[in-house]
Amino acid sequence: EDTITIGLLGAGNVGSLVARTLVEERDLISSRVGAPVRLAGVAVRDPEAPRDWKIPGELLTTDAEALVDQVDLVVELIGGDEPAGQLIERALRRGATVVTGNKALLASRGAELSAVAAESGAELRFEASVGGAIPILRPIQESLSGDRITKVMGIVNGTTNYILDQMDTTGAAFADSLTEAQKLGYAESDPTADIEGHDAAAKAAILGTLAFHAPFSIDDVYCQGITGVSQEDIEAASASGYVIKLLAIAEKESDSTGAVLRVHPTLLPRTHPLASVRGAFNAVFVVAENAGELMFYGQGAGGQPTSSAIMGDLVSAARRMHAPTPTATTVSSATELPPLSIER
Ligand code: HSE
Repeated sequence: EDTITIGLLGAGNVGSLVARTLVEERDLISSRVGAPVRLAGVAVRDPEAPRDWKIPGELLTTDAEALVDQVDLVVELIGGDEPAGQLIERALRRGATVVTGNKALLASRGAELSAVAAESGAELRFEASVGGAIPILRPIQESLSGDRITKVMGIVNGTTNYILDQMDTTGAAFADSLTEAQKLGYAESDPTADIEGHDAAAKAAILGTLAFHAPFSIDDVYCQGITGVSQEDIEAASASGYVIKLLAIAEKESDSTGAVLRVHPTLLPRTHPLASVRGAFNAVFVVAENAGELMFYGQGAGGQPTSSAIMGDLVSAARRMHAPTPTATTVSSATELPPLSIER
């Protein structure tokens, strides 16, 4: 049977939407893949927990390891280091494809997990880990692979961009804007990771690793969040034609082979393309030697945008899993046929 089976780990904000797409849009996804796709199970901690979409009971399990051991493709959306890390490693070791949005894990163990994938001939995909719906990792890894990237500079955290934007445009207080960002489903379960810049730092490490072909971890990123930014700072910036943005920057050092990675509140002239990125939107500005300046823009947080990136990786990886095997039949040219031949 050539059905591609999928195991989903985690059914939070993004996970329940991925489950819904795999169940309700199964025909569409199968046709995009070119082979039947089936959601074999969803591993959760609490099967009774309320969810945005009610997952059919027969799909729910609390035994994540057993699920990982029986499917062709694992989608990890638990987040955090453990048990996500050991489950991903387990899947890769048995040659299963893994699609994840787990930026924190990739920023700490990305190089090691990629090595495990390479050893087992498995695939690890993580487009959803940076910039939500924005296709940014594949363009860096593929489209720009014949160029030299010199700088990547981005707004990669929706929560902090939302807070700074609210403070700038409506004068709303920091705390109220954060509560709003949490309600809208942008913030991490512990929003400290957003406002202290750790989430953006994880994404900077992932971007730097791909842009500069060197394994950076979150520990290589200088990190300063937005908790020290006051309403007065924002007003003063505005009065002189600037806007304050939390930027993740990965930059080649001019006279060395090194690169510097940093996350911090930055004054941007209002005319800079990144200055117009409002609300929870994200944007990544890339500079390459031959390509010049590029900008990628879109929804960087929230269930639906992130599930789009997950589904994209899933379809694209699943397509490769059943790459049409060359058939034994070859085309032979007809030699010398009689003027009238009979077909039976
Ligand atoms: N908390 C993250 C953000 C979610 O606000 O951007 C997307 O990774």
